Amino acid sequence: MTTPIQRLNRRALIKAGAATVAASVIPTRWAIAQTKPLKVGLMLPYSGTFAQLGENITHGVEMVLAEKGGKLGGREVQFVKLDDESKPELGPQNAERLVKRDGVDVLIGTVHSGVQMGIHKVVKESGTLTLVPNAGNAAVTRDLCAKNVFRTSFTNWQPAYAMGLALGKKGVKKASWITWDYAAGTESAEGFKQGLEAGGGQFVSLLTLKFPETNFQPLLAQIQGLGVDAIGAFFSGGGAVQFVKDYAAAGIKVPLCGSGFLTEGTLGGQGAAADGIETALHYGDGLDTPKNNAFRAAFKAKANREADVFAVQGYDAAQLLAAGLEAVKGNIEDEKTLHAAMEKAKIDSPRGAITMSPQHNVVQDIYLRKVTNGQNKIVSTIAAQLADPGTGCKI
Ligand code: BEZ
Repeated sequence: MTTPIQRLNRRALIKAGAATVAASVIPTRWAIAQTKPLKVGLMLPYSGTFAQLGENITHGVEMVLAEKGGKLGGREVQFVKLDDESKPELGPQNAERLVKRDGVDVLIGTVHSGVQMGIHKVVKESGTLTLVPNAGNAAVTRDLCAKNVFRTSFTNWQPAYAMGLALGKKGVKKASWITWDYAAGTESAEGFKQGLEAGGGQFVSLLTLKFPETNFQPLLAQIQGLGVDAIGAFFSGGGAVQFVKDYAAAGIKVPLCGSGFLTEGTLGGQGAAADGIETALHYGDGLDTPKNNAFRAAFKAKANREADVFAVQGYDAAQLLAAGLEAVKGNIEDEKTLHAAMEKAKIDSPRGAITMSPQHNVVQDIYLRKVTNGQNKIVSTIAAQLADPGTGCKI
């Protein structure tokens, strides 16, 4: 067990990068906290198949800062942006660069579950406050959960479980899942299987290809022979655009559904190929609330395109950060008060009200959506205030 003072020293040592930091810095910390800008690292994909996801998250974060007059908890904010390229092998070194070399006070990142594992390893050790604005890998809020790590997006399990449940309840007897072979794909497959079985259906098989490959033909060729009533899928970004177009072009008669990422922020590229696809997600087009309408208008004015779930998740990461920093008046070193405020926060999200589970994952409604006239129209709420099981977490 480390004491708060030991943790402060460890973080100060990391930032200074030298053994010269001594206990003498502690009395000046309050003064420093009040005058220095808060350094916020944005470790996100700005290139590759998830580039638009990273950009929309960034817009969402910046929107909150603008709404709050450029300050969080009374402190100016300086962003340090790093393109993680969705490359898991670079995850630890990129996170170390932000934490050790750039000395960020807060890290917001990332999109890809594999890269998140690299970040997690680094920030669990350094104690850096971290907000996960997308990546859904279970470990972060299950067995490897940490008191300094909060997620404002989802676990891979949440939307996929809801999709499986909706199918099962609709009377679908057999379904398979097709995806990239990494945590987001395999964990969503597990969620889909559990939901389908809970709804009375049967999971038949998992079909995978390597991330971020888009040669779907060998997998598509197998589908008619599986004997299933539905195919579920996890793909996102550029890969999702390609997959949905290839699925339609192959003329496969088995209905396609999935975690909502399959059709989120991608409909412009997918066109008519996406018509009628049902997905499950914690957001949808046409959520007619004052908060969501204002958010969508502001996002469009800023980014010159429609908002999507990634923009919402970035916005809520910054809202949660603001709630914590306001509670400590910008003194990020007061970790106990900061974390407690974030744990208790009730966030007015464009998606609806959200709270944090004891494991620091978001608790939220999951909607069934159907692509209609180029929009992910909400059909119904499949699971109200769904929490991830959070298994194995001890904070
Ligand atoms: C993930 O890797 O966790 C992920 C990536 C894109 C969309 C959703 C999840």
